[in-house]
Amino acid sequence: MSGAAVTCDGSRAMATEPPFNQLCCAKVRLSRTCHERKSATLPFMCGIVGYVGSRPALQIVLDGLRRLEYRGYDSAGVAVVDDNVILTEKRAGKLANLEKALGERAGDGIASGSTAIGHTRWATHGGPTDRNAHPHLSADGRVAVIHNGIIENFGRLRAELEATGVEFISDTDTECAAHLLAAEVRALREAGSELAGPQLLAEGMRRTVNRLEGAFTLLATDVAVPGAVVAARRNSPLVVGRGEGENFLASDVSAFIEHTREAIELGQDQIVLITPGAIEITDFAGADATGKEFHIDWDASAAEKGGYDYFMLKEIAEQPQAIADTLLGRLSERGEIVLDEVRLTDQDLRDVDKVFIIACGTAYHAGMVAKYAIEHWNRIPCEVELASEFRYRDPVLDRSTLVIAISQSGETMDTLMALRHAKEQKARVLAICNTNGSTIPRESDAVLYTHGGPEIAVASTKAFLTQLVACYLIGLHLAQIRGVMYADEVAAVVDRLRRTPDDLRDLLGQMEDVRALARDLRTASTVLFIGRHVGFPVALEGALKLKELAYMHAEGFAAGELKHGPIALIDEGTPVVCVVPSPAGRGVLRDKVVSNIQEVRARGARTIVIAEEGDNAVASYADHLISVPRTPTLLAPLMTTVPLQILACEIAAARGHDVDQPRNLAKSVTVE
Ligand code: M6R
Repeated sequence: MSGAAVTCDGSRAMATEPPFNQLCCAKVRLSRTCHERKSATLPFMCGIVGYVGSRPALQIVLDGLRRLEYRGYDSAGVAVVDDNVILTEKRAGKLANLEKALGERAGDGIASGSTAIGHTRWATHGGPTDRNAHPHLSADGRVAVIHNGIIENFGRLRAELEATGVEFISDTDTECAAHLLAAEVRALREAGSELAGPQLLAEGMRRTVNRLEGAFTLLATDVAVPGAVVAARRNSPLVVGRGEGENFLASDVSAFIEHTREAIELGQDQIVLITPGAIEITDFAGADATGKEFHIDWDASAAEKGGYDYFMLKEIAEQPQAIADTLLGRLSERGEIVLDEVRLTDQDLRDVDKVFIIACGTAYHAGMVAKYAIEHWNRIPCEVELASEFRYRDPVLDRSTLVIAISQSGETMDTLMALRHAKEQKARVLAICNTNGSTIPRESDAVLYTHGGPEIAVASTKAFLTQLVACYLIGLHLAQIRGVMYADEVAAVVDRLRRTPDDLRDLLGQMEDVRALARDLRTASTVLFIGRHVGFPVALEGALKLKELAYMHAEGFAAGELKHGPIALIDEGTPVVCVVPSPAGRGVLRDKVVSNIQEVRARGARTIVIAEEGDNAVASYADHLISVPRTPTLLAPLMTTVPLQILACEIAAARGHDVDQPRNLAKSVTVE
């Protein structure tokens, strides 16, 4: 079979000609130090797309990558199989760089081939260069591979391959997989395997993944097998989209939602082979396997900006609907709260004597709010832990511990590892997640999905509010099953929750002053946030948003802690955002925060006060007053967080930053 590879600089190499042999003889290019350093690192969390069908694949893959760019945007690349040629293009930087490079190339079939794979990368190590961008070609140019994850035994494999004369072009572990796959396919062919075409490629992939350790999703195309993409998954996400005469692969469904809403979630350690007319799933041992079929109940427009300047603004605006959707159908006719998947008995929940919440970032802040609600309603201890710290301090867990893992993506590695630690200790695990079929809910004993729809902006907004709603529901569910709340009490809280979307719509309609304030604050060097009780996590969340989007120094404090140190930060004009509890709740709490506002004002702070409508007394302490609708104390974060999201978004925009893709971050943090 004849074939050729065209690299990112547009050069073309015939697959039957000798690049492999030439490379065998060439001297190893990377130094040992670089090699060792690389093998000790955790490299990627990336977006992956694959397509086979009869349409030009390039545009379909690029559109998919655009939707996945939130997963990483350090570099991007594609490989298209056309007429026994693999054509690749890859560029450091955002997808736009790749598109520009593609636009400058013409007439070589890259735009017309109907089999393609594409990748968008987030690197934690190894420069985000053209050379390290995916796809990676095997030395003989026959196969192209893209990868999300970490090949942990990369160092050993690389040394083995180098001993056979393979010269590595990049600093990545992925390149190993490309060389191995080509070698396995070649070995099968040379051994006279009865397999041919796509089946031969799938068998090569099976042999390859059986040599890999670590976490990976791999997608590969072979120059000799146009019309097929093979993929493998271990500890890294991969879904299949089933089309009519065409099929898709992607890290998440948003990549192919405009083409099909029928999807299959792959299980752990599975290989999938897609051709235009078939989807074949097997396990790593070669036995037939099945994935879990599901219908995607949101559409392509949900993954587009819909007229907003940024996804983040769109997602902020979607919050009322996201809350309403998360509440939909949660109360059964008998007044009981309904979770999505429950592999726990009521007795298991009655036996719970301690709750741990594990999460990261914004989800951790949701957990902090949940602690107040769960303890208040259930009178059982509830601890909130950063997932990245949880397992290292050897927490005391047993069968009667309920661990609640909160994650928008369902793939956050810190949370996943903490969850696995909890399961090893026999604790019950309940997930709150926004991503159907992702790893965290799959490995949990029960799941409550937040029906927030896709969250594309890196900064979490609607995920946070829907996580809060989910936490409230779980707190109520536990209280009901444990017999500490009556059904009508639970229904009253749910009823109040159901009114929050309307309140939130009103609030969102009154954010013009916050926007003006944001423009004014864009040059501040520090912004501080204070709150008490559930207002404390809101303060932390406000500060996190500002840090990640505006790259400003921002800190959140428990208001009572100010006088124990942080108050020294306050200088003339320092902006301090103060989250004031409802005067209708525990009055003493609100009065204490008002005292704290006076303390910071006395030291020159410029106060931005978020308080409940009708709390007129607070106005005299506020340089800027932001009023939010009246809400019961425990539910107040559903309102008070929103102005802080808008403040951060608008300050970032005023400072000229990329609001949806802040520097150094990725949406799904699949490394520890
Ligand atoms: O997908 P997860 O909810 O598990 O993600 C957790 C954090 O990485 C995430 O909330 C992060 O802090 C956000 N970028 C904050 O806006």
